[in-house]
Amino acid sequence: MRPELLAKLTPVLTRRWIEPDAWRIDTYERLDGYRALRKALAAHPDELIALIKESGLRGRGGAGFPTGMKWGFIPQNDNKPHYLVVNADEGEPGTCKDLPLMTHDPHALIEGVIIASYAIRAAQAFIYVRGEAVNAARRLRNAVAEAYAAGYLGKNILGKSFSLDVVVHSGAGAYICGEETALLDSLEGFRGQPRLRPPFPATHGLYACPTVVNNVGTIASVPPIVLAGAAWWKSMGTEKSSGPMIYSLSGRIVNPGQYECTMGITLRELIELAGGMQPGHELSFWTPGGSSTPLLTADHIDVPLDFEGVAAAGSILGTTALQIFSQRDDPVYATYRWLKFYEHESCGKCTPCREGNNWMVRTYQRILSGQGTHEDLDTLLDTCDNIVGRAFCGLGDGAAAPVMSSMKFFKQDYLDYIEGRTPPRLSDKLLVGAH
Ligand SMILES: Cc1cc2nc3c(=O)[nH]c(=O)nc-3n(C[C@H](O)[C@H](O)[C@H](O)COP(=O)(O)O)c2cc1C
Ligand code: SF4
Repeated sequence: MRPELLAKLTPVLTRRWIEPDAWRIDTYERLDGYRALRKALAAHPDELIALIKESGLRGRGGAGFPTGMKWGFIPQNDNKPHYLVVNADEGEPGTCKDLPLMTHDPHALIEGVIIASYAIRAAQAFIYVRGEAVNAARRLRNAVAEAYAAGYLGKNILGKSFSLDVVVHSGAGAYICGEETALLDSLEGFRGQPRLRPPFPATHGLYACPTVVNNVGTIASVPPIVLAGAAWWKSMGTEKSSGPMIYSLSGRIVNPGQYECTMGITLRELIELAGGMQPGHELSFWTPGGSSTPLLTADHIDVPLDFEGVAAAGSILGTTALQIFSQRDDPVYATYRWLKFYEHESCGKCTPCREGNNWMVRTYQRILSGQGTHEDLDTLLDTCDNIVGRAFCGLGDGAAAPVMSSMKFFKQDYLDYIEGRTPPRLSDKLLVGAH
């Protein structure tokens, strides 16, 4: 492998994953674990917020919001409890970075939780884990118990006046509970549906108190930044997208998995790191950040995979979940499968998403069963137009993204179904009202 390419591999969050018993506190402590906490507790909370701002760390949950700025929004001296809530709901199709992190290195997250809670003056933190992630939740609960026993959690942590309790909460497996306000409702015991904003969680979050919601990868990035400094973090990545990023690669490549690299790496380089495309497969289309980000094509193989680079190419970095498809894969059918997911996961609160996704699924079923018309293509675009920017939360926009982008790049594939050149892929028994 080319040395300059290998140099782009920057294992920071992933570096302990291959250690035997990586998830145990002894292993973690042997490999720098809880050193950052000692350093952090010796500093003033505001210094930590300033450090995270200086590092340029941006949220790893999809939107890339600057983390230090988010922490800085928490009001001080307000005599209200403050909460840290870790979003570990990871459910976006193709995304697989938070679950392996929690399974292999749960203490990295817990140490980040303690430091972040100290910085925002929270005495209670929650880790909201996706319901299906039973193994990750079990590892986290064990790690939390180990951290209490070692004096890293509970009263007067490491002999300081700072105390913190952490609860690991398993959701019930709804994708919408990854949306931060739906997550808060779910955590409070209500049905998980997004809240109207403003007010934002920074002032009215969990139990209407100031709350920071951060992704697993965001919080796990905090201890290395505290230990090695903002300049070290910024030495990886690009000016506005600093640090290493875990890219999850799946699909038609030889070695799928998580590749932690400097931000700004390209798909061409990642495919090379992953051993290339599978024999007989050529890159056709891919998602840069999960299925709710607009598809890109082989023409975008050299786009820098950072927040700005992907946006300039017309998509979103999202969760850096690269699902890689070849000329042997069908963009119409792939889009249909994603859409089925979003239709199923729509919480039903707003009409554009609840009705629009159902309409679009039915339109795809018509097209894929050989019953589609040219008008169906206009209907799809018109429906997307009525969802994007009109839905109550990001799920609606996310559902429309693969539809609009696949129609932009692969219109011919749609026409081939409609004009009979591609044989039907679905039975027409699926169609509403049929048989
Ligand atoms: C439908 C939907 C699902 C989401 N799912 C997740 C998720 O599973 N994990 C996550 O961290 N953020 C998810 N987000 C983004 C969160 O709302 C929020 O932006 C994020 O947790 C903030 O953390 P960060 O600033 O550390 O990225 C989702 C957003 C939407 C609209
Ligand atoms: S966009 Fe979809 S998921 Fe979001 S509030 Fe509306 S119905 Fe619910």
